[in-house]
Amino acid sequence: MSYELIRTRVESGVGIVQFNRPKALNALNREMMAEVIDALEQYDVDDAVGCLLVTGDQRAFAAGADIKQMANATPVDMLANPFIDYWDRLRRISKPLVAATSGFVLGGGCEFAMACDMIIASESSRFGQPEINLGIIPGAGGTQRITYAVGKALAMEIVLNGRFLSAEEALHYGLINRIVPVETYLDEAIKFCAEIAARAPVAVRMGKEAVNAVFETSLQAGLAHERRLFYMLFSTEDQKEGMDAFINKRQARWQGK
Ligand code: CAA
Repeated sequence: MSYELIRTRVESGVGIVQFNRPKALNALNREMMAEVIDALEQYDVDDAVGCLLVTGDQRAFAAGADIKQMANATPVDMLANPFIDYWDRLRRISKPLVAATSGFVLGGGCEFAMACDMIIASESSRFGQPEINLGIIPGAGGTQRITYAVGKALAMEIVLNGRFLSAEEALHYGLINRIVPVETYLDEAIKFCAEIAARAPVAVRMGKEAVNAVFETSLQAGLAHERRLFYMLFSTEDQKEGMDAFINKRQARWQGK
């Protein structure tokens, strides 16, 4: 598939997808989301890629779902198009998925970033769910994920009153991983992802799966799930390699097997 609304490239084992609708502040329309998901799913099965990174530009990660595309929609139109299903497909990406944000991270853009595993934010990032101003509520997971991240009290303000969070606030509440300078935010995010991409690939995927299980299961079921994944990793060559390298004081060479 050739892409018109995104840019893609691989650098240092990182599959990078960049929204490319700058004039619309990278508003997420159906066509761009289709391209984004296609690119991410391809990187997810590409052995040369160990970590996935999604970004926008300095002014906006994404200012939300495309309001112009939704303005005249009926409930049946909304049901019939796959737009929000794309967020379910984001959840099924098995490699680590990181968002590098800057500027506006709003509505569906914030929901996209929160559906990623980690967020590296430039100092100018502003997070919010301003759907209330349009007479709607978030529909791609915003009410749930923002509440998990920042707690009920602040989530209510964000969803009911359109309160934005600065990068500092987002870091304070644990919504993001780190704040980096605007000028270098993408390079910093690539460096962050490249470190993860260089690690034992199967263990990285299992680690992601185990952490994400917290949001789906009871503690008991999560612990049992973790233990199965832990035992399963003893069937990999990378486990033998990693432990042999430790014992013999040498650098491990990961095979992803
Ligand atoms: N959809 C479509 N177009 C958008 C857009 C969006 N979400 N956000 C910005 N744009 C467009 C504007 O219409 C404008 O286009 P034109 O030049 O053709 O008029 C262009 O991007 C630049 O935007 P502004 O002139 O508004 O820029 P600004 O700096 O004055 O304001 C802003 C920036 C505060 C982010 C403002 O654009 C804004 O409020 N955008 C909408 C944010 C929003 O409500 N997001 C939620 C969308 S609904 C949703 O996401 C539902 C869901 O849960 C899935």
